[in-house]
Amino acid sequence: MPKRILSGVQPSGKLHLGNYFGAIQQHIALQDQGEAFYFVADYHALTTLKEAEAKEEDLAGKTGKKSSKSARELLAENVRDVALDYLALGLDPAKATFYRQSDVPEVTELAWILSTVTGMGLLERAHSYKDKVAKGIASSVGLFTYPILMAADILIVRSNVVPVGQDQVQHLEMTRQMAGYFNRAYTEVFPEPDHQLSEAPSVPGTDGQKMSKSYGNTIDIFAEGKALKSAVMTGIVTDSTPVDQPKNPDKCNVFALYKLFATGDELQKLVDLYKNPMLDAETRDGKPFGYGHAKQLLLAKIDGKFSPAREKRKQLAANPDEVDRVMRDGARRARAVAQETMVLVRSAVGMLPAPVC
Ligand code: TRP
Repeated sequence: MPKRILSGVQPSGKLHLGNYFGAIQQHIALQDQGEAFYFVADYHALTTLKEAEAKEEDLAGKTGKKSSKSARELLAENVRDVALDYLALGLDPAKATFYRQSDVPEVTELAWILSTVTGMGLLERAHSYKDKVAKGIASSVGLFTYPILMAADILIVRSNVVPVGQDQVQHLEMTRQMAGYFNRAYTEVFPEPDHQLSEAPSVPGTDGQKMSKSYGNTIDIFAEGKALKSAVMTGIVTDSTPVDQPKNPDKCNVFALYKLFATGDELQKLVDLYKNPMLDAETRDGKPFGYGHAKQLLLAKIDGKFSPAREKRKQLAANPDEVDRVMRDGARRARAVAQETMVLVRSAVGMLPAPVC
């Protein structure tokens, strides 16, 4: 049997280069290596939606606009956006099953059953819960049991491999434990899934810290024109080495980002230009090579890499019915698998299969 691969994406607004190199790129590549399932984690999003709404208001306040988006509108918009983003970036619904989590309600049924074999202690040790509460997120029961819902996402398709970022590794350990609790309490239904970390190096933001929405140091995948230009040309922080002096590529944020896009030869060329700013000066009206020039090279790379996806996204956005059809079809396929699993689970615990009404 081909291995099953599954991952969930939080619908939390605009995707940036960190999301792309850290997760999306790997998701898209894996659709050719097994039976892949990807979903938009909208049930999970409900645990932090109030905070998302408050943030939106905060942002609107800073830019002098009044936010008119309710939590409800924000969820709908973010779910739609992330679906468009993934489809535009190459998720192929003919290869991978792509769906909204809430279109497969069997997930919540399994989450309940898993919650009855899971000890409080396991959840109490979750870092992500403690981190979120420390950040001021309201501690609802749903936030606390988030790892159970995540285990249900994975186990409902009896997935073997789960591509995630480092921050999700503990959730995967907890998933394996929950699978084991269930299998030992009843019968062996669930394989214990492995996590798979992205091989891409962690992506630095415009200020050199890890790229993250919460640090405000992102470059968005679907930014273009002026917005992209200003994120790169003005946004990226560089040191004050004078233009005509040699510069250190290993300490430069522009170079670190360029690395993600460039071939070995292109990278070597940039190292040479950093070390010897007068190299090829005739192509720059005799001027030394400065950070501004490096930023321009990076900008061209970002544009080259993502402009096809931007065009594709515009086409998809103009065809909401088509996107809806894709998501409905994904839900139908995912549900068929989920229902097969629930027949096994219900039988294992001593329940009859749910009657189809
Ligand atoms: N918790 C994941 C995140 O914050 C999203 C997620 C939900 C997920 N369910 C999942 C990831 C199942 C992998 C598998 O990024």
